[in-house]
Amino acid sequence: MDSNAQRVLDLPFPPDFVWGAATASYQIEGAVHEDGRGESIWDRFCRIPGKVRNGDNGDIACDHYHRYKDDVALMQTLGLRGYRFSIAWPRILPKGRGPINPKGLDFYDRLVDELLKKDIQPYATLYHWDLPQKLEDRGGWPHRDTVDAYVEYVECVVRRLGDRVRHWITQNEPWVASWIGYGWGVHAPGRTGEKSALAAAHHLLLAHGRAVPVIRRDCPEARVGITLNLSPAHPASASTEDLAAARTSDGKSNRWFLDPIFRGAYPADAAESLAPYLPAIQANDLRTISAPIDFLGVNYYNRHIVRATPQTGHPVIVRPESGSFTNMGWEVYPDAFYELLIRLQREYAPPQLFVTENGAAYDDVRIHDGRILDPERQDYLEQHLIACSRAIRDGVPLAGYFVWSLLDNFEWHHGYQKRFGLVYVDYPTQERVPKSSFDWYRRFIQRQVSERQRRQQIP
Ligand code: FCB
Repeated sequence: MDSNAQRVLDLPFPPDFVWGAATASYQIEGAVHEDGRGESIWDRFCRIPGKVRNGDNGDIACDHYHRYKDDVALMQTLGLRGYRFSIAWPRILPKGRGPINPKGLDFYDRLVDELLKKDIQPYATLYHWDLPQKLEDRGGWPHRDTVDAYVEYVECVVRRLGDRVRHWITQNEPWVASWIGYGWGVHAPGRTGEKSALAAAHHLLLAHGRAVPVIRRDCPEARVGITLNLSPAHPASASTEDLAAARTSDGKSNRWFLDPIFRGAYPADAAESLAPYLPAIQANDLRTISAPIDFLGVNYYNRHIVRATPQTGHPVIVRPESGSFTNMGWEVYPDAFYELLIRLQREYAPPQLFVTENGAAYDDVRIHDGRILDPERQDYLEQHLIACSRAIRDGVPLAGYFVWSLLDNFEWHHGYQKRFGLVYVDYPTQERVPKSSFDWYRRFIQRQVSERQRRQQIP
């Protein structure tokens, strides 16, 4: 082993740090017609020609619904201490509201028990984009009633699982759900326009804020947080225009979500420029949204380089001229991860942070002897773990790290073409093949845990 790889294995992390991996319901479960599950906006969206690469959909995905025991066994082999998964709302309330489907709850009950049996802590995300289609038919996230429906759904789930699940994530990446799904039409439900995006964003945040006290009431041990996708916005040049464009871009994406949650207000600069599109915001909404949380979940993949469009000054994200890129075309830039973690601590001071997603897609191929060698993914993870370790050293209360993803899976509008897993999935046979990055992460966790035990033994 070269000395750099050894150095990464020995990075200092706190003794109770949670080593994890993450997935999401629609991306892995399959079994979309099973046990009374209702239709979700992704089931519907995937059927629209041209929306998802290759016409792929989540009907079978990784068949995790049937293979969850094998998948938990893989997690145990990996040595995970935590597993982040999401709950499919249409399994629990097939019509979005109204009658509960007990078989849907039973599945997550079995999954949670299986995890706990293997000493893996469940981190449950309550919404990772699979809205029941029936609620979309009644207006979806841009409609305020969806917030009430969400709170009813959260109650059902927490009452059933709250005796065993302690960590709850209310929402995954409300920026993506609102802008890509309701603003640009690239994700389900495929609607467009600033107004529907901003109304969706407000209601996703409100749903989060309304859920916080409900989760605490039904699960007194609960630790509640929300997961945001955050990317530092770097100006493409030192020009005044590019600096202003980077600030605008940061306001519309990062601060649009951080400020209401931690400060109870939308950022004034962005709110001014978005004023014509803002939804009706009721008197107590921002107080509700800023309910104190126990942790912030951070999904980090890359930074954004922002340039001002000549004439209008509008920010556009540009691809850097050089550097290294993943199969998503995303730049590998771990320094911005460190910068982000430090900024969050300085400007928003969350009580605790978890990296709820970090990882990379590469064009993995199975070689003649059946193995998958993915040194690029290992390198990506190592560099980002170095950034985490530095951030902790510099005072960031980072408590855990979840690799995206445990398994190759349905990557939204890219279909199955993009592979993020530590485990390769051969879709025609559903065979799981751990990649070389899986073995590396296993050794890394093992080393961290044995180091912790060694330190505990020192009197
Ligand atoms: C995030 C999503 C996750 C996955 C990764 C690559 O935006 O939360 O489901 O698609 O990107």
